[in-house]
Amino acid sequence: MGYIHAEVKLRNPRLPEIPPTVVNARVDSAAWLVCIPRSLAEQLQLEQVDIRPAQLADGSAIRVPYVGPIELRFENRVAFSGALVMGDEVLLGVVAMEDMDVLIDPRHQKLIVNPEHPEHAGGFVGQVEPVQLVNVQINGLWHQFPKGTRLIEACEQAGHFVPRYCYHKKLTSPGNCRMCLIEMGMPKMGPDRKPELDEEGKPIINWMPRPQICCATDVSEGLGVRTNSPLAEECRRGVMEFLLINHPLDCPICDQAGECRLQEFSVEYGRQDSRFLENKVKKPKNVELGPRVVLDDERCILCSRCIRFCKEIAHDDVLGFIDRGSYSTLTAHPGKRLENNYSLNTVDICPVGALTSTDFRFKMRVWFLKETKSICTSCATGCNTLIGSRENVIYRQTPRENNAVNSSWMCDYGRLNFDYLQSERRLLEPLVRENKVLQPTTWKRAIERAAAQLKPLVGWQIAILASGRMTNEELWLTRKLAQSLGVTLLDIVPRLGEGDDILLSADRNPNTNGARLLAVASADGRVTRQIREAVLSGQVRALISLGENPARIGIAPETLARLPVYLAVDLLSNQTIESASVVLPSLGFAEKRGSMINRKGRLQRLNRAVRGPGQARDDWEILRDLLQALTGGNGIYTIEDVFRQMSEAVPEFSGLTLSRIGDLGVELWETNRSPDAPGEPAREKVREREKEQPPQ
Ligand code: SF4
Ligand code: SF4
Ligand code: FES
Repeated sequence: MGYIHAEVKLRNPRLPEIPPTVVNARVDSAAWLVCIPRSLAEQLQLEQVDIRPAQLADGSAIRVPYVGPIELRFENRVAFSGALVMGDEVLLGVVAMEDMDVLIDPRHQKLIVNPEHPEHAGGFVGQVEPVQLVNVQINGLWHQFPKGTRLIEACEQAGHFVPRYCYHKKLTSPGNCRMCLIEMGMPKMGPDRKPELDEEGKPIINWMPRPQICCATDVSEGLGVRTNSPLAEECRRGVMEFLLINHPLDCPICDQAGECRLQEFSVEYGRQDSRFLENKVKKPKNVELGPRVVLDDERCILCSRCIRFCKEIAHDDVLGFIDRGSYSTLTAHPGKRLENNYSLNTVDICPVGALTSTDFRFKMRVWFLKETKSICTSCATGCNTLIGSRENVIYRQTPRENNAVNSSWMCDYGRLNFDYLQSERRLLEPLVRENKVLQPTTWKRAIERAAAQLKPLVGWQIAILASGRMTNEELWLTRKLAQSLGVTLLDIVPRLGEGDDILLSADRNPNTNGARLLAVASADGRVTRQIREAVLSGQVRALISLGENPARIGIAPETLARLPVYLAVDLLSNQTIESASVVLPSLGFAEKRGSMINRKGRLQRLNRAVRGPGQARDDWEILRDLLQALTGGNGIYTIEDVFRQMSEAVPEFSGLTLSRIGDLGVELWETNRSPDAPGEPAREKVREREKEQPPQ
């Protein structure tokens, strides 16, 4: 195996606008796996697609992020590959790697080839050019930032928050509110066109006489910034006074109070008295911009965030300003309404209370809300959320930033889909059928009755209709239940809707990938159809429905009434519940903990924001108790026990726990690749078979 020394150019083929990075490397042309440092992965904005196992030189196993694709170009040869992300400094090696037979030296963050498999040796070793850093003086101290950092972000990173209204890091920067004015200066140049240095060897700054905005400027070498000078503070006071000239004194009745930037900055930078003697300009109030958003124009400070959001993110150019000067007014363009499925994000980003949500306004003061980090379960995207609740009632859901899932946004459909948790149709206590009537009972009796009804039956007489809205933990116990009863008729009910190319997925089940991974879902709902036929034909004598209404797959309540056993585990009453022999009330997404896998293969956590009503119980506890009643003790006391069992049996979960999933989730597999549905030959096997016998 021979090596050549060459310059290797690394590039992100998906983002050609990012300049390539060149490294001097020892290259083995047979090698095909790249390892790169984290800084380079970030510089090239490579997407993390996977977490892969690797071995440290001391023998311990680790999991390493895998990013890609990455383009390698050397000596007129071009190769595409993925890359393992290593430590922070050194670019190390390409290895021909079978089954990740790689050893990594943790002390030097080196990747070395497994000595037991020297034939895998290969690759290149080189030094990455560091990310270009520039020196910036902020409030008298010098800091370094990567080139291209927005100055307002740099100041914040250095611990000097600069107030802002129009700037939002996910939108373009028009620089129209002027709240971020600072003093700025450039290095003083000597006659030789080189910066003049002070006695400490640092560039001397030539301060500009007028203040500058820092939200639309990038850092540059030798830049000087003063965020807290008398001039900067006087400017802020001036801008605040100007913004408040026509702003109504609405705080006591404004929904934004408590999270209003105008209110907060007034405290810090406002004047106590008003010098304005004229009458305030009156503008439209209580304007219905769309079905979910109300505008109070007098409160608007004309920052244009909402306009830019609609144009740049929702691709629905519906808002704009009309008129000039102090009469400028935000409005919807003639004949248009703010009714796109992302309209409520404008309410989130409006820095003042000009835009409010019809669903939330006047319901609760925000400082009373408890915020719980969770995820939306209304589609397979799994947007990260904050659930706002008080005294066991949910008042709102807002998006939580996760750049791997939903950036900073969520759709209105998912955001508002929580009212059913407070519905009058909630099932509140376990019920068993006595003398043809459903009677309330205790949990112990209900579970015993359900187990007693199932025990005399054999596997092919039972069907389980599970749900893609169940958590992985619940699905795992469902699979165990199916195994213990010998059931093969097991599937989830597909739930499809219209998707878009922003966030909303056509798959409205949040955990289809989890159900597939845990072998509960069949391909294309094939088994669901078999369940329906088997129930209609009378083959099935017991149906267990878990959070699904059998009427959705065409099993009418009359058919269910003829079944000797119909065990319904659900949170809402529906037309089929009356036909059940046992009803077990369960919990909704905001009332329980657990994990789900989104459509991109990201494992994420649900968290409990409120307690369930009545005697409703966690679904995993119901399934655990049922399993126990059928098979005896199973050593499961907490949801962590369920996850542990799952992680010991399912390789994708190995090394993980519920707490290790973290608030932002963990990527389990390559984007857009779903696990093979049970009954489908594994991809690897198909590939092996095709090698032997190529497809015709
Ligand atoms: S309504 Fe709010 S977000 Fe829109 S321009 Fe006015 S202040 Fe800015
Ligand atoms: S896109 Fe899907 S996950 Fe995100 S908020 Fe909407 S329904 Fe919920
Ligand atoms: S935040 Fe800079 S001008 Fe508005």
